[in-house]
Amino acid sequence: MMLQVPPQTNNSPLAALLHQQAKAAGGMTFADFMALALYHPQYGYYMTPRDRIGKSGDFFTSSSVNALFGRLVARQLVQMAEVLSADSFQIVEQGGGEGHLALDILDALAEEAPALYARLAYTLVELSQDNRHRQSGVLAAHAGKVAWSDESGWSISSGCFLSNELVDAFPVHVVEKHAGVLQELFVVSSGGVFAEELRRAADSRLDRYFAWLGCAPIEGNRAEANLAAPEWMRQIGERISRGFVMTIDYGYPAEELYAPHRRAGTLMCYHRHQADDNPYDRVGEKDITAHVDFTALRKSGNEVGLDTLWFGEQYRFLLGLGFFEELVKLEAAAPSEQEARALRLTLKNLIMPEAGMGETFKVLVQGKNVGVPELLCSRTIGAIACG
Ligand SMILES: C[S@@+](CC[C@H](N)C(=O)[O-])C[C@H]1O[C@@H](n2cnc3c(N)ncnc32)[C@H](O)[C@@H]1O
Repeated sequence: MMLQVPPQTNNSPLAALLHQQAKAAGGMTFADFMALALYHPQYGYYMTPRDRIGKSGDFFTSSSVNALFGRLVARQLVQMAEVLSADSFQIVEQGGGEGHLALDILDALAEEAPALYARLAYTLVELSQDNRHRQSGVLAAHAGKVAWSDESGWSISSGCFLSNELVDAFPVHVVEKHAGVLQELFVVSSGGVFAEELRRAADSRLDRYFAWLGCAPIEGNRAEANLAAPEWMRQIGERISRGFVMTIDYGYPAEELYAPHRRAGTLMCYHRHQADDNPYDRVGEKDITAHVDFTALRKSGNEVGLDTLWFGEQYRFLLGLGFFEELVKLEAAAPSEQEARALRLTLKNLIMPEAGMGETFKVLVQGKNVGVPELLCSRTIGAIACG
């Protein structure tokens, strides 16, 4: 079934290449289209030199909003290191973007936990050469502490694996259920434009995925399946002997992600701070993302010995780690009331539920061979008020 063609303006070599490949193969899965649009080695959105994050880019991330985010994450890392009480502490961050989260964490540890900083190794796993280059510039002051690795070149004997807004950037399959049958979205090239076609899901991995998950989109609804995410989590679990995994991203548990009211899925594109749902326009100039299924991450983690220690909204995580106490200190240090107000307005984005990053953003903390420590991030507002 051919679907309506969304409006599109494309004159890039990447679009030409995608048209050529879609024609030659008689159509490609949306996951293949997204993988090339974002990660084609020469032309992909994340691979070409451009500002992607922050004011001059396409979207903000929590670490681009303010250094406080990384400082609070660092506080949680300090407690994890205490729980592990080992001679060394390894942090591995995948998909670190321009390196700002790593910088804020390392700055905070150097200042507030120098003994831990001294025995720390920070490894970045980054697909994009352009971002690796940016990371090494941003992290120059910590050059002795940081190293880079590919996806299979790291392991953790004692430490924490960390990511912020990585999993939403994994290529996803798009599906719709009609007459009780799962159909997969294919991208075809037709008359010089990209068009969508639904085909009976030939890939049995999709049926197996939803059976494994125990949840699926209902009749008539469109949804995404991030088949790479559970596989990724299993590999992480296998690389950690003893330690934690902290995954920060926007998304929901499966029942909410595939809830009946979510009729069109969660696919979103970002270009110069404008959000839209058309991945076929300006191919290679837009970020393409889908909300993360945290049930899939927890379930696949469990299979490799990663127990869920904490899962909740980003605002709870940050409040538990002392967001308000830090805000008060930062305000008091602001040179004028005008600057204190500007700071409040900026930081509010990290915790506000509507139009901010507080509620849709979730944090999942898993542990392997660490027991069941009471994590600092799990402190409730009542407990914070009582000291
Ligand atoms: C949205 S950005 C992350 C932003 C960043 N963590 C921050 O806090 O500002 C996604 C990042 O993940 C990287 N990436 C995507 N897939 C990857 C993979 N399989 N391995 C390593 N990096 C990956 C991209 O190149 C990009 O740097």
